[in-house]
Parts: sequence; C-alpha cells; structure tokens
Amino acid sequence: MKTTDFLSVRDVSGEEIREIFHLAADMKADRKKYAEALKGKALAMIFEKPSLRTRTTFDIGIQQLGGFSLYLSPAEIRLGQRESVHDVAKNLERMVEGIMIRTFSHQVVLDMAKYASIPVINGLTDYSHPCQAMADFFTVQEIYGDVRGRKLAYVGDGNNVAHSLMFAGARLGAHVTIACPSGFEPNATAFEQARMDAEETGAVIEVVNDPVEGVQGADAVYTDVWASMGQEAEADARKAAFRPFQVNAALMAHAKPGAVFMHCLPAHRGEEVTDEVIDAPYSVVFQEAENRLHVQKAIMYLLMK
Ligand code: CP
Ligand code: NVA
Repeated sequence: MKTTDFLSVRDVSGEEIREIFHLAADMKADRKKYAEALKGKALAMIFEKPSLRTRTTFDIGIQQLGGFSLYLSPAEIRLGQRESVHDVAKNLERMVEGIMIRTFSHQVVLDMAKYASIPVINGLTDYSHPCQAMADFFTVQEIYGDVRGRKLAYVGDGNNVAHSLMFAGARLGAHVTIACPSGFEPNATAFEQARMDAEETGAVIEVVNDPVEGVQGADAVYTDVWASMGQEAEADARKAAFRPFQVNAALMAHAKPGAVFMHCLPAHRGEEVTDEVIDAPYSVVFQEAENRLHVQKAIMYLLMK
C-alpha cells in the first residue's frame, strides 16, 4: 500500500482494496499462518466514544498477529484537554508501532496522522468509518463473488457510515444509493468526491429521498442508527423524520429477490430495523461484524509490518 495511514477509504485505490480483501480472506482461512506477522508490535487504541466491535476486533486482531494492544479510554487521554493531539502523537510514536483512534472530530484524526510518524488508523469519526465499509464490501464480495455492478442501498441517515460506503463503492465499481429523509443527506463534499471516484469505475453513486425507490434492484439493503454517537439529544426529534425509512419486511420486498440485509451495528431494533429483518436468514450482520477482524488484520499488517 502506498498510504502510511488508513484515515479514509479514499486513501487506497480499488486495486489496493482488492489486495487487502485477498489478504483478509487468507488470514480468515488460515489464522496460524500469520501468528507472528506483527510479532512484538504494539497498537495504541484511543477511544473517545464507546465500542464493542471496533475495540474487540482491533484488540484480538493485533494479538492474532503476534502483537499486543493498549486500550486508552476517554477518561485517560482527554485529547485536547489534558494534552494536545500533537503531544499525544509525539509521545505515542516513541512507545508503540501504530495508533487506532475513534473520536468525534475528523480533524483530530487528520492531525494525529500529521504529527505521528507511525501509522494511524481511523476507527470512526463523525465524518467516516472506513474500516466498517471495508468489512462490509468484503462481506458483499464473500456473498456475491465480485462486488462490481452490485447495488448496495443504504437507507437512513447520510452519516459517517454512509460516507465510507459511498467511497468504497465508488472505488470498487459497486453502485451505492443513499435513501434518506430530506435534510439528512450525506455531506455534499463527500458525495461529490465519491461521484468523482465513481467516474473511473463506472459505479453509480446517488442520493434519493424515497426508501422504496432506493432499494429497487438492490443486492444489499443497509441501514444504521438514526442518531449516531454524540447525537443522543436529537434522538427523539429524528425518530419522526426517519420512521418512513425503517427497514422492515415490506421494504425488503422491494429489493432484488435474494437481497441480503446489512447493518454496521449496534442496532436499535424496532427503530431503523425490525426483528423480522435483522433476524431473517438473509441478514448478514454478524458476518459483517466478524469480517471487521479479518479486514483490519490485513490493514494493520500492511501498515505496521
Ligand atoms: N460497527 C461498529 O463500529 O461497532 P462498535 O461501535 O461497537 O465498535
Ligand atoms: N453511525 C453510527 C455508527 C456506529 C458504528 C455512529 O456513529 O454512532
């Protein structure tokens, strides 16, 4: 990989994403083969928001590669309050071989990467969630063999996950339709960047305000919570706007027959998705969650080896 950090899916080319997927598949098939791939290397994991999947998969992932991790909780670091991002970066680069960071402002991750001489991996910001989108398209590839020409319909908030899915689809030649209520569209710059990248691969990246129109012809229907971490105060107000965008069996019936259901998790059952959908045989949400492990191991290896 040319990039020395993994801050956005846009940091890597379509070809590099396919290489990451190839390595992730090999790591998934034969864990022991890579047991010493990052022997003795340490990953600092900075969390300013809660996590189940990201924490577990990075922690277990680095251990499966022979390294170890250090969990730094919001209470410990207090980025920008107790100590500046610059000074945290300058300390950590002398102590560990990589930094995974989950925070609010995307600028903090960009700054961390600018100041630290070691690889920095974006574990979610308010703007993007690249490791999630990588695991998701790896999952689509496992299911369909090739993601090219497949359509993923993302129904809900034009948020961090939506942005990264657009970037990944654009790079890989997969169509991504965002179906969201008016006023909850993805960031305009992110949308334009994805559209620009899509011109090179033939992917169709679009935004619609009608969930039924959005899922038509979809091979995968994807949703996420209506209020993301940090938006808890808006949760009730958002419910009214998002109610027509609930992914339920009636909406799934408008997708392609055999379409899968996807969700980054955690899910708010009964809100953005009903039990009948998330528990259906066509739901691949836990496959996605597991694939975070394999894809991130490949990313860590390529950056930290
Ligand atoms: N999907 C995801 O990133 O989950 P966590 O917030 O639990 O890490
Ligand atoms: N959009 C969600 C994703 C959680 C993995 C959030 O930011 O809370």
